[in-house]
Amino acid sequence: MAKVMVIGSGAREHALAETFLRSAAVEEVVVVPGNAGMQSVGIRTINHDMMDVAGLRDLAEQEAIDLTFVGSEAPLIAGVVDSFQEAGLKIFGPTKQAAQLEGSKQFAKDVMAQAGVPTATSVMVTDEVRARQALKSFDLPLVIKQDGLAAGKGVVICRDREDAETMIQLAYERQVDAPLVIESYMAGVEFSIFSLVGSNGVVHAPIAQDHKRRFDNDQGLNTGGMGAYSPVRWVSDNLVQEAIETLVLPTLTTMADNDMPFTGVLYTGVMLTDDGPKVVEYNVRFGDPEAQVVLPQLQSDFYELILALLAGEQPEATWQQDDVYAGVVLVNPSYPAPTTEHIVLPSFSMADINTFYAGVTRNDDKLISNGGRIATVVGHAATASQAQETVYEAIDATQTTLAYRHDIGYQAVREENKVVSGDAN
Ligand code: GLY
Repeated sequence: MAKVMVIGSGAREHALAETFLRSAAVEEVVVVPGNAGMQSVGIRTINHDMMDVAGLRDLAEQEAIDLTFVGSEAPLIAGVVDSFQEAGLKIFGPTKQAAQLEGSKQFAKDVMAQAGVPTATSVMVTDEVRARQALKSFDLPLVIKQDGLAAGKGVVICRDREDAETMIQLAYERQVDAPLVIESYMAGVEFSIFSLVGSNGVVHAPIAQDHKRRFDNDQGLNTGGMGAYSPVRWVSDNLVQEAIETLVLPTLTTMADNDMPFTGVLYTGVMLTDDGPKVVEYNVRFGDPEAQVVLPQLQSDFYELILALLAGEQPEATWQQDDVYAGVVLVNPSYPAPTTEHIVLPSFSMADINTFYAGVTRNDDKLISNGGRIATVVGHAATASQAQETVYEAIDATQTTLAYRHDIGYQAVREENKVVSGDAN
């Protein structure tokens, strides 16, 4: 029986651990560093710094780990996969070079240009004078992104020039050589493709849609994601296939041609524009909260799937087809601003509701919140509107003072209602 290590501490890593635990071949999953919520459901955690890549490798050797799966982007960008591979340890994720697809927006743009992948036009700048100059060549609205890791929060859409100038001024006040990407705005709706990429095979998971803004009706600041649902039935299979063929596969081919083959989870953020699907960004791991609604749909064996991908095979994966999975993220009311407040976690007693824990610690016999993102609550049902009802009924019943959006899945519900009323076009 196998032992798996998952690296990361959030609800995504909790979902990964539970997915591995469903494998008949897996005896134990340890999550490093994990959180107290996972412990409360019997998952062992090891409190080790996930940025200490040499230490993680030693830990995998001491624990006799058969497979390591990296949930979080930061250790990937720090080179955890290279370190494990040098020691002959099995690990699923991209190398440090390949992880630049997420770590550097400029790198990703260069690969997309080489691969002929449609995306927004952009300019990278590292000083205020050039940034102000570059602004002039973009129509409004425009997008300003911090280069590097920003946990989904480093993107601002500027609808007037004054906003853009202020954003630039603030960025260079914080850091005199701040790397910024100024980009044309792409209008449309977004969805995400998760591709599990091996050395010689690719498996695509059901697509998902995230809700990045903090408040209902897509108001407020961008966050790491306030909720997601999957599959996204109103995006046709043909359109998904077109996006895979034009946005995912050419990038994988180009990465291989450039001697930095990509292995691991490629997360393609897609914008459906009037000119067809375009890439918003690539990430090199599962999305959070998307993983929490995608992974429970896997009916085949996750451990065997990852092993087959690492062995250069082209495995088949089976995903459920009957239901829509809706996940709502519970956050501290001040999120995305930092907080030191602790709130007692609600407990969910309803059958068929999954809770995946994130910023959670223990105080005596109670789980309490510790940070901004606390947990993802997931429900599923035959339609998006029933899935929405199921998950909100479970959350509302707890009367928690944690905050959450009340409209996760609204776009799918709207599309379902159009079909019911015969107004699908
Ligand atoms: N849900 C957005 C992300 O994981 O980056």
